[in-house]
Amino acid sequence: MRVLVTGGAGYIGSVSVRLLLDEGHDVTVLDSLQRGWRAAVDVRARFVDGSVGDSVAVEDALKNADAVLHCAGLIEVAESQEHPDRYFRVNTVEPCVLLEAMLERGIDAIVFSSTAAVYGEPDAVPIPEGAPTRPVNAYGASKLAFENVIEGYGAAGRMRSVRFRYFNVAGAWPDGSLGEAHDPETHIIPRILQAMHQGERSFEVFGGDYPTETGTCVRDYLHVCDLARAHVLGLEHLASGGAGGVFNLGSGVGMSNLDVVNTCAEVSGREIKVDIGPRRCGDPAVLIAASDRAELELGWTRDRGDLRTIVEDAWAWHIAHPNGYR
Ligand SMILES: NC(=O)c1ccc[n+]([C@@H]2O[C@H](COP(=O)([O-])OP(=O)(O)OC[C@H]3O[C@@H](n4cnc5c(N)ncnc54)[C@H](O)[C@@H]3O)[C@@H](O)[C@H]2O)c1
Repeated sequence: MRVLVTGGAGYIGSVSVRLLLDEGHDVTVLDSLQRGWRAAVDVRARFVDGSVGDSVAVEDALKNADAVLHCAGLIEVAESQEHPDRYFRVNTVEPCVLLEAMLERGIDAIVFSSTAAVYGEPDAVPIPEGAPTRPVNAYGASKLAFENVIEGYGAAGRMRSVRFRYFNVAGAWPDGSLGEAHDPETHIIPRILQAMHQGERSFEVFGGDYPTETGTCVRDYLHVCDLARAHVLGLEHLASGGAGGVFNLGSGVGMSNLDVVNTCAEVSGREIKVDIGPRRCGDPAVLIAASDRAELELGWTRDRGDLRTIVEDAWAWHIAHPNGYR
């Protein structure tokens, strides 16, 4: 396949680019580098420095593509509440330029990085794809809006799409050469590992009075390499004429924040005291995915799915890159 990966200099995009290249596909990366790292882009990929909202850059990037994996975007919930304009522009409006250019070139296949944040506070867990979508922040709303745009193109018979709703993505390329380097980092596993690596004595967990076994929030963790594998399967599905659809990606297993801290301590051999802080506004108690549809329809399996493997790979990345890609 000849694939354009937008956001290929970011965490999830860079791992997906590496997997696609390793499997013999031709890859172009389009990234504005506003949140990504040139060093994360595999040297075998063609790199175009630009935004998905810039028609000249998009034209150039689409020259060698038959399909698009659209990972580019802004991902911080708190920032999205402060700057909803920024989130709707980057996550919803600018990618419309990409869709227009795809249509002009007759490219009708797109795999989109969406998020569990489109569900908001669920009525029940595990969450199936048919659950109501009621995002509680501008980030989730901006991603859902773009899902709707793609669906609209689909309803008009102009585009086929796979919309993947990821739960909590973590882990790294197993040799520690590619990993999570957000700035600021808000995801719990890299934050705990950074704190341990820097020798900090305590780590604050948001809320200890949730109706869960440990009192802390429960989340569903997904290895970034298993996610990249799902991307390849989604692209293959569309390449073979598949109709696409919405697919959750998670493990179906919930791990509490305390489980995560304990696993990080076991893997790193470093202890850290847990401070229970106040709840964070808008954090549901439990988020767990039902991912059966991706398994049944795309043949997706998780090879590195358990939390310990996820943390081991993330730790290997942190040890090798204490300052990320800097
Ligand atoms: N990380 C997670 O746990 C998670 C969970 C659910 C969904 N997602 C989705 O997955 C995607 C990738 O997330 P990530 O963790 O790799 O984020 P990331 O910030 O590491 O990567 C995003 C990349 O997109 C680039 N980018 C941003 N705006 C751009 C634009 N207008 N044009 C071109 N490039 C642009 C950034 O420079 C960056 O390299 C996002 O769309 C996000 O919504 C991530």
